[in-house]
Amino acid sequence: MKSITAFAPATVANVSCGFDILGFALDGMGDIVTLSEREKPGLEVISILGDGGKLPYESTKNTCAVAIQAMLDELGINPGIDIRLKKGLPLGSGMGSSAASAVAALVAANQLLGNHFHKNELLPFAIAAEKVACGAGHADNVGPSLLGGFVLIRDYHPLDVIKLPVPEELHCILLHPHYELNTADSRSVLRDQIPLKHATIQSGNVAGLVTGLFQGDFELISRSLRDVIAEPYRAVLIPGFYEVREAIKAAGALGMGISGSGPTLFVLCKGEEPIPGIIASAKTVFESIGLGVDTYQSAINTQGAHIL
Ligand code: HSE
Repeated sequence: MKSITAFAPATVANVSCGFDILGFALDGMGDIVTLSEREKPGLEVISILGDGGKLPYESTKNTCAVAIQAMLDELGINPGIDIRLKKGLPLGSGMGSSAASAVAALVAANQLLGNHFHKNELLPFAIAAEKVACGAGHADNVGPSLLGGFVLIRDYHPLDVIKLPVPEELHCILLHPHYELNTADSRSVLRDQIPLKHATIQSGNVAGLVTGLFQGDFELISRSLRDVIAEPYRAVLIPGFYEVREAIKAAGALGMGISGSGPTLFVLCKGEEPIPGIIASAKTVFESIGLGVDTYQSAINTQGAHIL
């Protein structure tokens, strides 16, 4: 009986101005899924490690099983597969935790079943899992987790996903305050409609950020890290948000935003040199308001999910 293991990386979704349409993958952190063939047809989640007992085992609710089931439905087959998930990402953190599980499961399943799909053809199955995990079928975590690098979702209907270039010196710092914020709650504070002037500002910044990535123009990237659609409503859920942003900019960062739906914050900077100062300045602010914070630093992962 065959057994396949795959890894999928953490991601930063939205990247400030790109609500639901921009994301990038990180090095080092991620989830691992092992799939094993078995005689009895159907999917069964056998074990989940590293989730503190919080994730569901039911195959209609577990993000790995939902993603694989969507693939099996497309193929019209019903093989027996045991699922073992090892969480490397904290839940409700804004690091694309549910997305990494679904993507690792799909990459492993595709290999186990004979590679019927190209990597980017797995995206609709991962989006189906995101819908179950957080109530919205967004692709800005699953896209970069699967494909690596910086990813733009130009459209959802039909899905049009574009990989963007990543300037070599671009680095990311994650600041993960010690509490959970689930995506459904963090989406519920958003408005359904946006004023025209905000649409104009947001479009300018998305275009600016994409141009900055293409041209390796760090000043332009810095100016474009602005979100007038989601951040104003979500920042209030993250104590110290504006103070941290001021501190990290003074320490030489290009900018900061909410990673996905939070509460993790992402900071972008040019090169590794400013990283220790940026981390120290953010920690000082969080400590002053009595909030513990974990910090991670990473280059942009350009490989995406892969078989181990
Ligand atoms: N784009 C999604 C959101 C990402 O902001 O709700 C969730 O991680």
